[in-house]
Amino acid sequence: LSEKLSFIKDSIITIPDYPKPGILFRDITSLLENPEAFRLTIELLVAHYKDKKIDKVVGTEARGFIFAAPVALALGAGFIPVRKPKKLPRHVFKEEYQLEYGTDTLEIHTDAINAGEKILIIDDLLATGGTVSATANLIRKSGGIVEDAAFVINLPDLGGEKKLTDMGVNCFTLVNFL
Ligand code: PRP
Ligand code: HPA
Repeated sequence: LSEKLSFIKDSIITIPDYPKPGILFRDITSLLENPEAFRLTIELLVAHYKDKKIDKVVGTEARGFIFAAPVALALGAGFIPVRKPKKLPRHVFKEEYQLEYGTDTLEIHTDAINAGEKILIIDDLLATGGTVSATANLIRKSGGIVEDAAFVINLPDLGGEKKLTDMGVNCFTLVNFL
């Protein structure tokens, strides 16, 4: 397993000073371009959740969609997009979250989740946890049970895992970058 995780980690390119000086940007597009790394990433996520009776997988726009949709298919679960404002056509619940400067909003269709359904959140990367804490709130407003949040990458120094754990959301991540 650790060999597989090293292979995935090594497929992720790091770009210094993007988007701003001092930031080391972990870029998943290099993982996606490598079919073995992409396949293995999906396989490991599916293996972790295959016996957990997940009803639906929620993916967050945009990079979360790339990983959430294939995992949903493989688990035999539905896929639900959580989107940036004004993209979803039916009635929505909205949740504001903190960005580095200011706030943004995420939305989910009010009828996407049935009461009591077990929901898995998938995103590419956990940084401050703002995106996925807002997503967990949207799922709870919808009557869903947040089973877990799973990520390809965790940046533990940015505190996202603690933020999510403190609100009762358990995290599963494949690779850490310190
Ligand atoms: C990135 C990333 C995560 C989020 C992580 O998305 O894909 O969703 O930031 O940061 P956080 O834990 O501090 O919230 P971004 O908002 O850049 O959107 P994108 O996927 O559309 O590029
Ligand atoms: N890579 C990609 N997305 C991000 C990062 C990063 O290092 N930090 C916050 N969002």
